[in-house]
Amino acid sequence: MTRLFLFLCLWLSLWSENVLGSILAIDYGADFIKASLMKPGQPFDVLLNRDSKRKIQSTVGWKKNDRLFGSDAANIAGRFPLDSFSSLKFLQAAPYESEAVSFYTSVSTADVVKTERGTVALRRSDGTEWSVEELIAMQFSYVRELAESVAGEKVYDVIVTVPPYYTQFERDAVVDAIEISGLRTLALINDGTAVAVNYAMTRSFPEPEYHIIFDAGASSIRATVVQFSSVASEGKSKASKDATQITVQGVGYDRYTGGTELDRRLRDLMLNDFQKRYKRDISTDKRAMAKLWKEAGRVKAILSANSDAMATIESLAFDIDYKAKFTRAEFEAACKDLKTRYAVPILEALAHAGLKLDNITSVILTGGSSRTPMIQDAVRAAVGASKIAQNVNADEAAVLGAALHGAGLSRQFKTKDIRISDIGPYDIQVAYQAEAKNPGARPRTINTLVFPAGSKTGTKKTLTFKRQNDFSVKLAYKASPAPGFPTEFLEAEIVGVSEAIQNITEAGATDPVVKATVMLSESGFASVRDAVVTGEFKDESITGKLKDFFGKGSSSQSVDETTADVGTAEEESTTVTSSSSSSAPEASATAVKAREPIPLEIEVKFPTISPMTVKEKRAGRDRLLAVDAEETSKRKREEARNTLESYIYKLRDLLEDESSEAPFVKCSQTQERKAIAEKVDETLVWLQDHGEDADTIEYIDKRTALESLERPIVHRYKEIEEFPKALNNSQMWNWSTRLFLTEAKMNLTKELEEGTVGRYTKEELDDLEKTLKDHESWLNEWVEKQKKVKMNEDPVILSSEMRARAKVLENHLQKLVKKRPAKPAKKSTSSSKSSTAAAAEQTDSESATASGAEGSSTSIPHDEHGHDEL
Ligand SMILES: *[C@@H]1O[C@H](CO)[C@@H](O)[C@H](O)[C@H]1NC(C)=O
Ligand SMILES: *[C@@H]1O[C@H](CO)[C@@H](O)[C@H](O)[C@H]1NC(C)=O
Ligand SMILES: *[C@@H]1O[C@H](CO)[C@@H](O)[C@H](O)[C@H]1NC(C)=O
Ligand SMILES: *[C@@H]1O[C@H](CO)[C@@H](O)[C@H](O)[C@H]1NC(C)=O
Ligand SMILES: *[C@@H]1O[C@H](CO)[C@@H](O)[C@H](O)[C@H]1NC(C)=O
Repeated sequence: MTRLFLFLCLWLSLWSENVLGSILAIDYGADFIKASLMKPGQPFDVLLNRDSKRKIQSTVGWKKNDRLFGSDAANIAGRFPLDSFSSLKFLQAAPYESEAVSFYTSVSTADVVKTERGTVALRRSDGTEWSVEELIAMQFSYVRELAESVAGEKVYDVIVTVPPYYTQFERDAVVDAIEISGLRTLALINDGTAVAVNYAMTRSFPEPEYHIIFDAGASSIRATVVQFSSVASEGKSKASKDATQITVQGVGYDRYTGGTELDRRLRDLMLNDFQKRYKRDISTDKRAMAKLWKEAGRVKAILSANSDAMATIESLAFDIDYKAKFTRAEFEAACKDLKTRYAVPILEALAHAGLKLDNITSVILTGGSSRTPMIQDAVRAAVGASKIAQNVNADEAAVLGAALHGAGLSRQFKTKDIRISDIGPYDIQVAYQAEAKNPGARPRTINTLVFPAGSKTGTKKTLTFKRQNDFSVKLAYKASPAPGFPTEFLEAEIVGVSEAIQNITEAGATDPVVKATVMLSESGFASVRDAVVTGEFKDESITGKLKDFFGKGSSSQSVDETTADVGTAEEESTTVTSSSSSSAPEASATAVKAREPIPLEIEVKFPTISPMTVKEKRAGRDRLLAVDAEETSKRKREEARNTLESYIYKLRDLLEDESSEAPFVKCSQTQERKAIAEKVDETLVWLQDHGEDADTIEYIDKRTALESLERPIVHRYKEIEEFPKALNNSQMWNWSTRLFLTEAKMNLTKELEEGTVGRYTKEELDDLEKTLKDHESWLNEWVEKQKKVKMNEDPVILSSEMRARAKVLENHLQKLVKKRPAKPAKKSTSSSKSSTAAAAEQTDSESATASGAEGSSTSIPHDEHGHDEL
């Protein structure tokens, strides 16, 4: 079971628990990825890539062993056509034999292979195969890293946009990629709906308005009819309509008319032109085809703004530099057959919504291809120029809307209250085998349309079955949702029926039935949520008897196999319960005295394209982590090697400068320099022989060996610089203490003569004097010794020790200076006050003298920060 089950659990826990931390939104397009980060307390914007671009090309690739992303990965396609992977969106969940895959192979030079699941993987030039999910997961990881460097923390939760027409297969593929990348799925959101959220962000709708989001992307064109209205927000009175309700009313789409198809037409124009001019076939030359593809994209962009453009490809094939002029008219002629298709999704979405163009306030253009003149012209012709609105950012509206919705779901942000009601675009039915009445009868399949196209997402329905034994139900699209895609997507085996029926019957129930709940989630996944056996318990009360007398309520009809006909009669049997996600089975209106329903086990299987299993996803995650780990260790190795090399060059420079003034020469002995020179030579030879294949640790070891030779020299030099400063510091405290003692002793003498209470006792002053003398004699002794030491010999005392000793003296002095005057006799209160003030004053003046003596930058008695620096 149970990927789906796990997925549902995830959903439930997301509902019940607040998600904490940053939220990442990704608009994953066939050409470009846009991302946005929502972090509490941070400005909300589109995420920039490492080159400060607001969109990242949806490409991953390898240049030999180096993995690349974005335009770096796209730009190598001409040289490494088997190692650059773009347009992967077309391949999400696509069966190997589907139209999606044949379309992909017509635009890409990549090598497509079939996976065990029947979907596709891409094979690199070195033979390694990567599933589409893994490659997209790499891109998600890349975006995640960008987000984490901005957020300054780990990012886990992501909301990803998908086209509204994405089937369960494709939605599963998106979620699988998210999980392989190590992220968690907060939600999927249809891209048109995300744009609507962005649109609603800065607007209010006192009266309901209808708009069409026309999204022309690289892969496809889709139109979403949306109603915007104002409603009361939670907990507020009905009168204050301060929340915005977005209700999707209809969608239309064309899966294969988009920017990529236009690129393909232009590429073929160039290809044909080249082949005609040079009489050579290059259609199987992957490098040439990759170069043409890149140039087609560039020329298309120019033709959006200009009437002609020059295509230039150096050494396209056979050493020929290709150059040709293309006009917009030629390009549009090559796309003539598409002209009628661009605006069709709008009309379909309107029909789907049951609205007319008159009902629509505006058609909001979005998506990169909405800039293409012929597409704009077609939309203008279909809806009239006055309806066209270009009031959202065509590239960023979807990702910003998605981020905002994600923030709303996480409930930790204060955002404008915007609610979404979306729809599923396909008829979804439940299929099951009728229970055979007489043995040997041909089993009949019964189909119940549970979620007709246009059903609201986030709703569930309960199906009632009169069954005695285990049975299975299949969830399926009524028709194939896209060429080459299957209809059935999920099978739920309901297990333990007969035992549960026996138990409930023994408990006194009559008419036991199986009730199964199917759900269409907010993110567009259909599933069998739960199944139970319930029955009716005879009510002994008067009302119960009366009810029995008047017959049972008719509100809950059963799927009665004797009368049910395929596809129709069951519709009444599905009771729509409220769209809230409360998981408790609804109380039956007819069960007069409800006892606990008995839950049944559900075993989920995937009859056609299966999502990745937990095991497969874990394997994918491990592969990605292994690539990451390899890249990290490669980077560390490069760093270690570069540091070693530049260290060697630094040492060589030091050795070469033989002027006697150079500190390195002054502080070193000849044999030390000789030893370093030998080691440098030895390391250079080693680098020549092993530099390419050595481990990180070897580079570090080599550097450490050199450093240990240089360290004593550096140490001497530092000490030579430090010594005078440390000596100055010592003398300064010596001097300050001496000054203090002289004055204090004078005062003491005077006080003794006058018979007043002195501030310091004789013992205190003698103590300080002793500390001073110790300090002086130590200094005298060691300074003399140090003076005899040559510059290229190791110092006999360290500046750090001098400072530590001066600190002892300083502390002793400070203790006395800060000492509060002894409690004077009562009569001399006023004089004691003045003496406190005087003490403070002295402190200041001492500090002033000291700083004068010490010089400007270094430190001063009483300033703690200054002391730390010493
Ligand atoms: C749509 O417009 C028609 C008139 O063109 C009007 O009768 C109808 O009520 C409108 N529908 C809605 C939902 O506003
Ligand atoms: C039926 O009852 C038995 C005995 O109480 C219990 O062990 C079993 O789990 C029950 N089965 C179901 C499906 O509830
Ligand atoms: C030491 O202090 C004297 C002033 O007493 C000053 O002239 C000299 O520059 C100082 N030397 C250092 C190394 O700070
Ligand atoms: C300490 O200070 C006294 C008086 O200022 C001076 O005579 C003596 O030489 C100093 N000693 C040292 C080691 O600087
Ligand atoms: C000495 O006495 C004078 C006058 O009372 C006072 O200002 C000064 O701070 C005293 N000095 C010391 C070191 O106690």
